[in-house]
Amino acid sequence: MSGQKRILLIISGGIAAYKCLELIRRLREKDFLVRAILTKAGSEFVTPLSVSSLTEDKVYGELFSLTDEAEMGHIQLSRDADLLVVAPASADILAKMANGLCNDLASTTLLATDKPVMVVPAMNVRMWEHPATKANMETLNQRGVVQVGPDEGVMACGEYGFGRMSEPADILQAIETHFSQESKPKQSSNTALRALVTSGPTHEAIDPVRYIANRSSGRQGHAIAAALAASGIETILVSGLTDLTPPKGVKLIPIESAREMLAACNDLLPVDITICAAAVADWRVKDAGSQKMKKEKGGLPTLELVENPDILHAISNAGKTRPSLVVGFAAETENVVNHAQAKRKRKGCDWILANDVSEGTGTFGGTENTIHYITNDGVTDWPKMTKQAVAERLVEEILAHFADLGKTTDQAAAD
Ligand code: CTP
Repeated sequence: MSGQKRILLIISGGIAAYKCLELIRRLREKDFLVRAILTKAGSEFVTPLSVSSLTEDKVYGELFSLTDEAEMGHIQLSRDADLLVVAPASADILAKMANGLCNDLASTTLLATDKPVMVVPAMNVRMWEHPATKANMETLNQRGVVQVGPDEGVMACGEYGFGRMSEPADILQAIETHFSQESKPKQSSNTALRALVTSGPTHEAIDPVRYIANRSSGRQGHAIAAALAASGIETILVSGLTDLTPPKGVKLIPIESAREMLAACNDLLPVDITICAAAVADWRVKDAGSQKMKKEKGGLPTLELVENPDILHAISNAGKTRPSLVVGFAAETENVVNHAQAKRKRKGCDWILANDVSEGTGTFGGTENTIHYITNDGVTDWPKMTKQAVAERLVEEILAHFADLGKTTDQAAAD
């Protein structure tokens, strides 16, 4: 898919720099050409030798190195790439970028470039949450810099929170999404269509500090929202908590529980298309405590569960406000196609994308999916592909469907 796209990878200082080696390996596997700049701080964490062995190129580091400037100056470096990726992007390099500082090769190249830039922040949670970093990131976002992560988790410093660098698989997916969106002409003819996508897990409170949740990463739903928006469709994403950056051009409505998700979706109807990719918790605790449950009370607590609303079912049966196309997913562990066909009838949706989430498939929370695409016309087995590729294929089917209905044009707006 990449052709021979050229990535200029800027590795700044941070313990997460080691993940860049894996990123370069994955990029090379996908046929990207990678050239790297390693900052002085970055070279404290990874060696130029390991980087250059993987890029199969020399590693650039010094701004005033005569040989570098003679062979490949900083202007040339920035021009000779299709995308600049700063990973890890430290608080320092984000601050330099936001303020136009340039006192080393990395920052000078970033100031000199006229190419798209992606940053993958990685730092301590307090640094990430500092108003200065927040303001810098906002400035960069406003200038069109693509942001990937950071993820939430335990950091090298032992603290917990947002600040971990995104995993190489997610960075690769963001890079592939960037190029696939770039290569697609904006189809203004689809702007008459409006889509609603649900994504991510729901969190069901047990008490103010505890909840029931699941392992959904939100990758599939977010990728679908990104692909819909890239095709010119107005897209709203109602999502539970994920580590993912909201896709470009998509309006995000964050929710926590299934009931909040349903309320947000109902508020958004009518729309033309709804895709329910969220992993909604089937049950919630009947009486979630307003105070933290205490151990001292003795004995083990019993959680009484009640059923959550089924959002896909509710939207599929919304009467006058039912979207003209409703698509659901069926996460199954056995008898995948039969269960999914029954689910399609039970819920009343038009299409269902069935996937095998049994142990060992790595689908749930992973980056790939093997889909059985089920419609009124039967079942089509799609080969195993990335979640982004699934999203793109689904959007192709959606566009073909509306084209058949004669609705890709402004007619939808006139309805
Ligand atoms: N779904 C939903 N609201 C729910 C449960 C599921 O909108 N409360 C949607 C999901 O987003 C997905 C589809 O319904 O599009 C199927 O979800 P899945 O988890 O496979 O099915 P369940 O309805 O939970 O049924 P079961 O767990 O029995 O397989």
